[in-house]
Amino acid sequence: MSSPNQIHPIRIAPSLLACDFARIAEEVRAVEAAGCDWHHVDVMDGHFVPNISIGPPVVQKIFECATKPLDVHLMISEPGRYAKAFAKAGAHMITFHAELFDSTDGMGAALAEVRASGVAQVGMALNPATDVRRIEPLLDELDMVLVMSVNPGFGGQSFMPEVLSKVSWLREQGYRGQIEMDGGLNLETLPLCVAAGADTLVAGSAIFGAPDLTLRIQELRKLAAAARPV
Ligand code: DX5
Ligand code: ZN
Repeated sequence: MSSPNQIHPIRIAPSLLACDFARIAEEVRAVEAAGCDWHHVDVMDGHFVPNISIGPPVVQKIFECATKPLDVHLMISEPGRYAKAFAKAGAHMITFHAELFDSTDGMGAALAEVRASGVAQVGMALNPATDVRRIEPLLDELDMVLVMSVNPGFGGQSFMPEVLSKVSWLREQGYRGQIEMDGGLNLETLPLCVAAGADTLVAGSAIFGAPDLTLRIQELRKLAAAARPV
C-alpha cells in the first residue's frame, strides 16, 4: 500500500481573502492562469471568529468565474445550518471547525449534516490550540483535516510551527485523507508543512502579495515537491 504521504497530489490553494475583492473575477482568473489547483474561500461570521467576510451569494459569483474547485473554509458557528447554501453556491469541499462541539456525537451529527448538503468532500479544521486526538474517532469519515497554523480570523499572520506535530501524528496513525495547512504559509514555512505530511497548502499574502503570481506558485510547488516525504 502506498504511503499516506503520497496518496494525494500537492495542491496549492490561494486564499481569496488576500485578493482585491473589487476585482474578484480578475483575481480568480489570474491565480488560475498562474497555475493554482484550488481556490480557498474563507467564510467568517463575526461570531466564531472576530471578523466577517463573505457568504453564499459571493461564493456563487466566485464559482461562476472559476474553473478550479472551491475549497470553502467555514469559520462560522452553525456549519450544519448553512452547508446546503454553500454546496448550492458551488463549494467542492466544505470544512468546518471541531471547536464548535463538546462531544464526538455533536461533531458526528454536524458532519452528517454537512455531508447531506451534497458537497463532494467534507473536512474538519483544528485551531492551533485544539488537540488533534479530539477528532480521532471521526478520521475515517473525513476527506480532509485542516490544521490551522494561525488563529483563524485574519490573513497575514505568522506561522505557528508547534502545530506541525499534529500533521505528523495524523500520518503516523495512517490517516490517508488530505491534510491541509492554512495560515502564514510562505517560501520558508510551506516546505515544513509538506515535510510533516500535508498535501493541500493554502497561502494568501504569500501568493497575492507576490510581484509575479505564476513565478510564486511555481516556486511554492517546487519547494513542496522537494520537501515531500516518501
Ligand atoms: C485565516 C484564513 C486563512 C488566511 C491565510 O483565518 O483561514 O486562509 O487568509 O492567509 P495568509 O496566507 O496570509 O496567512
Ligand atoms: Zn482558511
